[in-house]
Amino acid sequence: MLDVDRIRKDFPLLSIEYGGKKIAYLDNAATSQKPVQVIDKISDYYRTYNANIHRGIYKISEKATEAYIESKEKAAKLINTDSYSEIVYTKNATDAINLAAIGWGTNNIKKGDHILITEMEHHSNIVPWQMLAKKREAVLDYVNVDRSTYTLDEESLEKGLEKNPKIFAFTHVSNVLGTINDAKKLTRKAHEAGTVVLLDGAQSVPHMGVDIKDIGADIFAFSSHKMLGPAGIGVLYAKRDILESMDPLITGGDMILSVEKQSSTWNDIPWKFEAGTSNVEGGIGFGAAIDYLNAVGMDNIKTHETGITKYALESLAGIEKVKTYGPAIESAAKGGIVSFSIQGVHPHDIATIFDSQGIAIRAGHHCAMPLIKSVLELPAAARMSFYLYSTMEEVDRAVQAIKSVKETFHIR
Ligand SMILES: Cc1ncc(COP(=O)(O)O)c(C=O)c1O
Repeated sequence: MLDVDRIRKDFPLLSIEYGGKKIAYLDNAATSQKPVQVIDKISDYYRTYNANIHRGIYKISEKATEAYIESKEKAAKLINTDSYSEIVYTKNATDAINLAAIGWGTNNIKKGDHILITEMEHHSNIVPWQMLAKKREAVLDYVNVDRSTYTLDEESLEKGLEKNPKIFAFTHVSNVLGTINDAKKLTRKAHEAGTVVLLDGAQSVPHMGVDIKDIGADIFAFSSHKMLGPAGIGVLYAKRDILESMDPLITGGDMILSVEKQSSTWNDIPWKFEAGTSNVEGGIGFGAAIDYLNAVGMDNIKTHETGITKYALESLAGIEKVKTYGPAIESAAKGGIVSFSIQGVHPHDIATIFDSQGIAIRAGHHCAMPLIKSVLELPAAARMSFYLYSTMEEVDRAVQAIKSVKETFHIR
């Protein structure tokens, strides 16, 4: 059991008020709030050891370098990889997937090859593959989402894998449906077809224990800002042989071993992918966020979010003209995300009325247009998403806000 009251005290933003209303922050799938432990860590870096890393032969530079590397060690341990050399820091998950699509894809995708993704992907796991397919004259295939269970359609998956795609890139957890894909099983099936696997962990690593070695995926991406850390820092993990075979995209300082007038040689992994001055404060703050999550316990976070999500789904189930999208309440494969619509009301109007009551939710296409349009057949959806500090009381406020929306628009 989480001591949510205690946890909430660590997050200054959760006690702010707008127009006399305490904020209910229910947009955690977009980004998370930050605890004082992370804020203070970054502030301490600026105040007491701000220096460039790798370069200075002086104490504060050495301390900054150590703290930056230590954060990579923490990220490596969090997802159970062998060493921090497999942890490349990027700007975010999007940047990480682009680096993989271009860095790995350019060397491995040829004309006529198949690339497999799914209908439930975020744009950041669609557009890079569209670009690559166009450039290499490859074929981009989709695994369908089952319209009643909101899970990946097994038959469609088999058909996709029968074409022996070069890569299967899929999300661990859908940012719209909350569906948790069985990443281990899907990876095994893809490997049986000789297919490399890229797993998008943007919505899984913040909310549950993830053992990438056990899952077996070859490439993995996630973002610090969705897991209590600062924005501007993300992770590309890939197996050593993949990272070693990939060309860097950005070149310049720090990523080289030597530079001659006409040619250069690359630094070891992960540094060959990190050209120029690093986001030092981002890395250090990310390390503090991982410490915080570990202290609370990923399993405890998952259990707490499951309880809140069940409560939200049960509360919404009784309200007429409200529809939710995602696996059923009883399903174990459901993360802390509840997308919903109110018949006859545009989601932007829903979010505006929620906002007037101090409740922050997301409305729109959630960067998943193919899913929203072809699977849910909606112009947009409203979404509540939870985290370790979310409460049943916030869900009750959301339910009241839905009732206000219905009254305002005379929906019975
Ligand atoms: C499933 C999924 N993948 C990738 C991303 C991209 O993350 P970022 O914007 O941090 O790059 C998101 C962001 O919402 C997401 O939900």
